[in-house]
Amino acid sequence: MALHNDRFLRALARQPVDRTPVWMMRQAGRYLPEYRATRERAGSFMDLCRNAELACEVTLQPVDRFDLDAAILFSDILTIPDAMGLGLYFVPGEGPMFRSPVRDGAAIDRLSAPDAERDLDYVMNAVSTVRRELNGRMPLIGFSGSPWTLATYMVEGGPSKDFRHVKGLLYSDPAALHRLLAILAEAVTDYLNAQIRAGAQAVQIFDTWGGALTTPAYRDFSLAYMQRIVDGLIREHDGRRVPVILFTKNGGQWLEQIAATGCDGVGLDWTTELADARARIGGQAALQGNLDPSALFGAPATIRAEVARILESFGAGSGHVFNLGHGISQFTPPENVTAFIAALHELSPQWHE
Ligand code: CP3
Repeated sequence: MALHNDRFLRALARQPVDRTPVWMMRQAGRYLPEYRATRERAGSFMDLCRNAELACEVTLQPVDRFDLDAAILFSDILTIPDAMGLGLYFVPGEGPMFRSPVRDGAAIDRLSAPDAERDLDYVMNAVSTVRRELNGRMPLIGFSGSPWTLATYMVEGGPSKDFRHVKGLLYSDPAALHRLLAILAEAVTDYLNAQIRAGAQAVQIFDTWGGALTTPAYRDFSLAYMQRIVDGLIREHDGRRVPVILFTKNGGQWLEQIAATGCDGVGLDWTTELADARARIGGQAALQGNLDPSALFGAPATIRAEVARILESFGAGSGHVFNLGHGISQFTPPENVTAFIAALHELSPQWHE
């Protein structure tokens, strides 16, 4: 089926575009009153994820409200560990938690990769429902957490500031952690391929906590497993390339290694300058980012100046997907997002003449 708006896919392929495409990490969520209303009707967060019609509704809310170039499936990275039997639940104000964290080799050896099509069928139903409703308006992005990032939640049992359990395992029983990461790499590959078969037209791997590692540990415990996933993904479906974007938060010093995986796009947080990233890896991969989400707390003129600065930093030509440097804050005023997108649409065409 023809795509009415393929700017996002064209920019990832570094093909010419008329303006810089944009989407926002965590674009569906609590900063939108319409999300809060649907969430209220659904019950819990997981009830919302499991209901294909409602998950579709919240996926479309940001693309209906703002002039965005891609939709991202409404779901969560923690669906995989939930399907592995860890018992995901959310504590308001504290974030995601697991009833049964995996703290040692014995617990890891009881785990196996879920069968995505069977055990995560609700995610695939949401993907095909969104594709049907989008009806070619713009591409749909599927996603997963990286094995390392999933492992941090599975071993810690919830969010953590110092990662003492999972890094403790890394230094005390690295072989056990490698066994866990291998299972997760297999699970993520199967999960993303199932999303692609169900209709996801691009996929992003969120390595939110890769930046907590040393350089050699990042290579061995995070990047090596993302490499396995990139190697195992379906890269062409329905006659179109299915690009994969790797986003390691705080990964700016490892851009060359990330690009060398053969991914199509590299996500950048706000601590790396696009000009610098482009000089380093712009010949190998498209770049995605990197407005500081907190800039959306500024006045419209400030937001516009930040957008101008980022566009100028990337410079002329294709290969840039505009995004935030991390997920949008739940406290963001939606009208500031409108100002952000308007500034981008006003300022970006001149870089594509
Ligand atoms: O981008 C999108 O709009 C798609 C949906 C999406 C969600 N989570 C919805 C969500 C995506 C891509 C994610 C990814 C995710 N989930 C990550 C990686 C991205 C990142 O921000 O680094 C991580 C680390 C998680 C784990 C997770 N799930 C957290 C930390 C939270 C917030 C918990 C809290 O109470 O603050 C969630 C829940 C969650 N996932 C919400 C949303 C909209 C909020 C749920 C609610 O309605 O209460």
